This record gives sequence, C-alpha cells and structure tokens, in this order.
Amino acid sequence: MLRRTAASVHDYRLTAQSILPRTLFEYVDGGALDESTLARNTADFEEIYIRQKVLRGEKVDPAGPVLGHIASFPVALAPIGSLGMLYPQGEILAFQAAHAAGIGACLSSFSVCSIEEVMPEVGDGDAFQLYVLKDPGRTEEILARATAAGFRNLVITVDTTHPGMRDRDLRNGYRSAARPSLSMLLDCAMHPRWFARSWRSLGRGLGNFAHWDGVGSGLIAQAAYMSRQLKTDLTWSDIEAVVKRWPGRVVVKGVTDPEDVARAIGIGADGVVVSNHGGRQLDGVMSSIAALPVIASRYSGEVEILFDSGIRRGSHLLKALALGADGCLLGRSYAYGLAAAGADGVIAVLEMLRKELTMSMSLAGVTSVEDIKKRHMACVSLREARPNVSALVGFS
Ligand code: FNR
Repeated sequence: MLRRTAASVHDYRLTAQSILPRTLFEYVDGGALDESTLARNTADFEEIYIRQKVLRGEKVDPAGPVLGHIASFPVALAPIGSLGMLYPQGEILAFQAAHAAGIGACLSSFSVCSIEEVMPEVGDGDAFQLYVLKDPGRTEEILARATAAGFRNLVITVDTTHPGMRDRDLRNGYRSAARPSLSMLLDCAMHPRWFARSWRSLGRGLGNFAHWDGVGSGLIAQAAYMSRQLKTDLTWSDIEAVVKRWPGRVVVKGVTDPEDVARAIGIGADGVVVSNHGGRQLDGVMSSIAALPVIASRYSGEVEILFDSGIRRGSHLLKALALGADGCLLGRSYAYGLAAAGADGVIAVLEMLRKELTMSMSLAGVTSVEDIKKRHMACVSLREARPNVSALVGFS
C-alpha cells in the first residue's frame, strides 16, 4: 500500500524507489551513458505549449484506436522486460490492469512469465514484442509460440542490435554478473516490502528461454546470456522476412529517422513506434518528441504512427497526438505503478493519465482524438526561446 495518496506518475516513481532494491529500481529508471537522451525525452515536452481555446462547452471523449483496436484513451502498455521481478506475476498483472482500463498491452519477449503462462490468464493477446536473435531457429521458435498463442500484433524492436550501455546497471553488476553478488543480496534484504512479496519468485528467470541450452539459471545469468544472443548484424531484409512470416499486423519499434520509417513502410509494416527506447540505447539521439513531427508530416495515413519515450503526464499525450502520433505507448510510467502496488498501481497510473489527458483536452477546447488530429499543430506552439528545437520539430 502507498503511504500517501499518489498524485502523479512522479509520486509512483518515488514509491517504487523506496520499495525496490536499488539494482532493480536503477534497471527500470536508468538510461544509456550520460542519460542525456533520457532527460531530453521528458524535458522536450516542456518546449511545446498547448494552445488553449476556451468556452467550447462540448463533452470530451479521449477514446481512440491503438494497435488496431479502440482504446478508452489512445495508449497501450509498452513491452518492458523482467516485469515479474518488480512484482510477482508482473506481466500478467500489467496485462490485466491494461484490460481493466480498456487499453491494450505488449508482452516483452524478455518477460519473466512466459507466453504460455501469460496468455491463459489475460485472454486477449494484443501484442508480442520480438528481439531477432542470432540463431534463426530460436527466433522461429519464439515466433511459432507467439503465433500459436494468438497475438494479433507483432512488435519488432530494431534499436537494440547491441544491448544499451547503462552506467547504473554496470555499477550495480546487472547483466555483467553471472549470479547475484553479495551486495545485490544485501540490497534485496534491505528492501523488506519487496523481499516479502518476491522471495518465492527469486529463482525465476526469463520464462520464454528458460529451457534453452546454455541460458543458465536465474534472471541475472539469463539476462546476461540473452543480451549476447541479440542479432548484431540485423538488416531490413531480416525484418522483411519476419513481416512475411507473421500472420497478423507488424509494428516496427525504435525508429526516429524519416528514412527508416520509409524503409519500414517499404517492407510492409503496418505500424512504427517513434521511439528511442526511453533513452536506454543510443545516448545523444534526439528526443522522441522532437523526432515525431517530421515523420508524422511525411507518413501520416500510410502507416500507424505510435509514439513513446518520456511520457509522464496526460498533457504529454495531448502534445504527442497534436504532433501527429496516432497513439502512444507507456513505458516507465506503468512500471513504477506496478512496482509500487501491483495491478492496482498500474490501474491507478492509467486512470491518472486518462484523467489528465481528458482535463487537458477539455481545458484546451478539443473534444476527441480525431479533433486533435484535425487541428494538428494548431493545438500546440513552441516556446520562442528555442529556435533550435523549432527547427528540429519542423515549426516555422
Ligand atoms: C524497456 N523497453 C523495452 N522495449 C522493448 O522493445 N523490449 C523490452 O524488453 C524492453 N524492456 C524495457 C525494460 C525497461 C526497464 C524499460 C524502462 C524499457 C523500452 C520500452 O518499451 C519503451 O520504449 C520505453 O520504456 C519508453 O520510454 P519511457 O516511457 O519509459 O520513457
């Protein structure tokens, strides 16, 4: 239970920080190298002002389509690895919370609960996320299991041909150690709320791969092993082969350059996620929100344009929609909620963001997602003091 009423995603972040062992909190919270892209992802939203039109007197409905289905507001849960370590059965709880809130979710292939454990508990398989592995046989095994499980969307992540270099993880020994170190064990013991709920699942690893030769046992060893299995020489033709093989919709996640969006469209993708992986991969790449407008102005209507990285407020959702996103994925925002209070925490975060979006829309004088899209850039303006950002996001 939370000690005080949480008023924002930031409050859930602080609660997660107090409950989780430091290694786990920093795994969730951290970004690549100097974390400059991580910081800009959220900070750049503050360079964009919402244009307010008062006294419109109309009812606001934030529902909108995401990943091929109407959501109660235009978001879905992004794939996040190892959720089951933040809270036992974390992947199942996150899906159930998403469905209770009327939105969809995407299961990470690096989940603690396997595809076969999650699907019977959640009913609806909105999306599964794939990392293409060096071994084509193993990639095919995962694809076959995801197909058999009935996921409608396949989200192929393309910005992780090398695992992100994260100083915080390095310092904590996460992914470099073969087994939990003494300091990790002490860290766990010093967080009794987390330990009391999690000790039974401490032996668990990455459920989808636990039966593979060489993978080792436990999360630390398996995460280290699997990060070495990512296909480092991945190309667009590899992605095209997966698009041809998958029976449902395919979304390419992790593009920030318009030329890459053109390539994704060229190989038959149904959607893209404009994303820099929450600042966890290439530090120094531009914020996702700065990358979005040029992509949307060129390719809107040709492909579903989803957006993630840096969303912590409902007003951020409004800004992303106004800059051309068809829908958004939430990352750390819901992970903090899960770590703080399980499914209740995820539902509370979703409810909070939905309310913030609805209020922002109402106060700004827009009534629906369609309305935001129609008025597009007329919904927002940039702080004049930032001509460099103006150039980046295509404002004159
Ligand atoms: C991620 N992300 C991610 N993406 C993916 O495609 N597969 C994965 O397994 C993971 N794992 C993962 C773990 C953690 C701890 C985080 C924080 C993120 C990236 C995720 O899907 C999304 O792109 C970002 O989280 C969006 O940024 P924000 O909203 O967290 O700022």
